Amino acid sequence: SKRPLILAIESSCDETAASIIDGQGGLHSDVVASQIDFHSRFGGVVPEIASRKHIEAICGVCDECLATAAASLGVGSLRWRDLDAVAVTYAPGLVGALVVGLAFAKGAAWGADKPLIAVNHLEGHLYANRIAEPGMQPPMVVSLVSGGHTMLVHVRDWGDYETMGSTIDDAVGEAFDKVAKALGLGYPGGPIISKLAAKGNPKAIAFPRALMHSGDLRFSLSGLKTAVTTYIQKEQQAGRELNMPDIAASFEAAVVDVQVAKAKAALIETGAKEFCLGGGVAANPMLRGAYEKMCRKLGVRLTMPPLSACGDQAAMIAEVARDRFAQGRFADLSLDVKAHAPL
Ligand code: KG4
Ligand code: ZN
Repeated sequence: SKRPLILAIESSCDETAASIIDGQGGLHSDVVASQIDFHSRFGGVVPEIASRKHIEAICGVCDECLATAAASLGVGSLRWRDLDAVAVTYAPGLVGALVVGLAFAKGAAWGADKPLIAVNHLEGHLYANRIAEPGMQPPMVVSLVSGGHTMLVHVRDWGDYETMGSTIDDAVGEAFDKVAKALGLGYPGGPIISKLAAKGNPKAIAFPRALMHSGDLRFSLSGLKTAVTTYIQKEQQAGRELNMPDIAASFEAAVVDVQVAKAKAALIETGAKEFCLGGGVAANPMLRGAYEKMCRKLGVRLTMPPLSACGDQAAMIAEVARDRFAQGRFADLSLDVKAHAPL
């Protein structure tokens, strides 16, 4: 049987997304409407624009999601009342963006008389790995790296998490975005910088590796961003032409070195034999390559979401919801959003 059928909605930042999953983890649709074009000219996500674009997009995204799933299931049509539950990201994220998805999900669940399931966005990024590798089992360590988060988490079991360390200032994705902005490259910075970095020399410029040997699992990225902007200013003042690929590659290498060193320490500390990653920055090729090497050396199994599942989408929210449905853990219709929430 394909039951339960769950539709999940994600609207925590700048993608409006909906996905339908069945009880066995079969994905029947995975629709993502990105707002990047509306934010890029501002060099970052503008919260009020995000809210308004979610309002415009959400009906169409859900309609498309239902239609795609109907085709996948081989039924003529799929309506809200044909589903078994509605899941939604309630935290963390932009409050004005989250409320659009939550209010819509509540309305749909209430109207169709179906249970509502509340999902933490960060837990979604962790579960994106389980879509790629259905058999994966805790204990494991996950590195969550996105525009808003940088953390190492000990996953003792599904639903049982210990945050081992996180950033004390900027998130990794934020550092990519700010450096790209300083270089005049546009938004979001991650994909642009990683494309440039592929043609550059990662050893060309010695940027700082903050807290690399701090003996704990905290991260700091604001100093690196400053080091890159200072370097750029000095080169320009000296009248030298900037070697963009070298700057990008050297910046990435500084980020990756620290990420790998701390992930390794977390694996050794926990003794976990399984490592995975999630969030937009997990799509970075240099980071993925470095983790492959690290895990091979440590004898640790590595799972990485496919590139399409690193950034925000609703399939990962649906995958978490599958567990919640099985546990009978449903949300009250008085559920509210939260800007910040631990994993
Ligand atoms: O998970 P995500 O889509 O949204 C948040 O929850 O923040 O992550 C977006 C972040 C942005 O900062 C973007 O620059 C970064 O992920 N990113 C990358 C790459 N692709 C996206 N960073 C480094 N390398 C990439 N290839
Ligand atoms: Zn995210």
